[in-house]
Amino acid sequence: MAGVVGDLRPPAAVAGTAAALNEGGRGNLRARKLRHMALDIDALEAAARERLDPGAYDFFATGSGSEQTVAANREAWRRLALLPHALRDVREVSTATTVLGTTVAFPVLAAPVAVLRMAHPDGERAVAAAAAAAGTLHVVSSRTSTALGEVAAAAPRAPWWFQVYVMRDRGLTAELVARAVEAGAGALVLTGDTPRVGRKRRPGPDFDVPVEVHMPDLARGKDLRGDARLEQDAGTSVQDVGWLAGLSGLPVIVKGVLRGDDARECLGGGAAAVIVSNHGGRQLDGAIATADALPEVVEAVAGEAEVYVDGGVRSGSDVLRALALGARTVLIGRPLAWALATGGGEGVRALLADIAGEIEEALALAGVRSPAEVTLDLLAR
Ligand code: FNR
Repeated sequence: MAGVVGDLRPPAAVAGTAAALNEGGRGNLRARKLRHMALDIDALEAAARERLDPGAYDFFATGSGSEQTVAANREAWRRLALLPHALRDVREVSTATTVLGTTVAFPVLAAPVAVLRMAHPDGERAVAAAAAAAGTLHVVSSRTSTALGEVAAAAPRAPWWFQVYVMRDRGLTAELVARAVEAGAGALVLTGDTPRVGRKRRPGPDFDVPVEVHMPDLARGKDLRGDARLEQDAGTSVQDVGWLAGLSGLPVIVKGVLRGDDARECLGGGAAAVIVSNHGGRQLDGAIATADALPEVVEAVAGEAEVYVDGGVRSGSDVLRALALGARTVLIGRPLAWALATGGGEGVRALLADIAGEIEEALALAGVRSPAEVTLDLLAR
């Protein structure tokens, strides 16, 4: 009978719910699987390369010279074999730590990367908002393509730091620092590895940073590209740590330290912390990989200040290795540009969430519950 057959059929609403549940089940399973997919920053870069115009892609990707140091940075992390513990209680794992007293949800900061609006129109504002949402710090570049007030407004109340190049015109340098202070920067990061900009093979001579994204805080509608006053001052020295601290009233961190003796000099000059960095292989080609330079700097600093590191960090395992060698946090550079180019602010958010997830997993699989428990013995000798 039609009625009976009808009765045997589940009512439409229930069928709909069942379908939705099934769908939801599959959806959840997919979300769970996605969460367990390892990060593939090379794939992200390849996708970014397809979207960016070739000059912009080359600008972000390039290193100086024959790009030996770019490759060495990546390779040096891979060479460090981890020695995880077995049978440790890792039910509760926390990735949180502090940098100069500021809590961050996981030990990865957004490195200063110039002209991020060449990767995506939202540029620095998107990175600021994504870093704030993820619970970490954005170090805004001196070569920001978005005015500092606008970058700060994109993440109200979130802590951020300002990276400084001492420029040939000290007055303009001081003006930019004053703008950063006014916009709420919590520390200055003095880049010490760029007395001048290292030569690169790409992009070619026809490439230039578009005028609209060139130093908006100082340009105020003028074209200051090629203006020598804004070039890095080759006379920048450790004395400038004190100069900047005095100007700003902020702690000064020196970025681009690769030697123990230099790290000591920076501390002597008043630096609050140092960043072991070779500028992502964009300055002296052939310079030591940062994973190889880090132990000497950590030893020289001898616990008197925090030591951070960047260059080629691309996974949770790389972060674990950096922490094991004594870094308090890492910074990541190029991956921000790739995430921006492929997904704007949402892309950067996803990248940071993925890295945070990988760090949590790396800690658990190594048998430790927090960055504080990561010690040198997690690395094989
Ligand atoms: C940089 N970096 C950089 N550093 C700095 O102190 N001021 C700056 O303006 C810039 N600009 C910049 C532009 C681009 C396109 C890149 C790739 C890098 C260096 C950056 O802060 C960081 O040290 C490296 O990017 C870290 O290496 P990875 O993560 O890119 O391998």
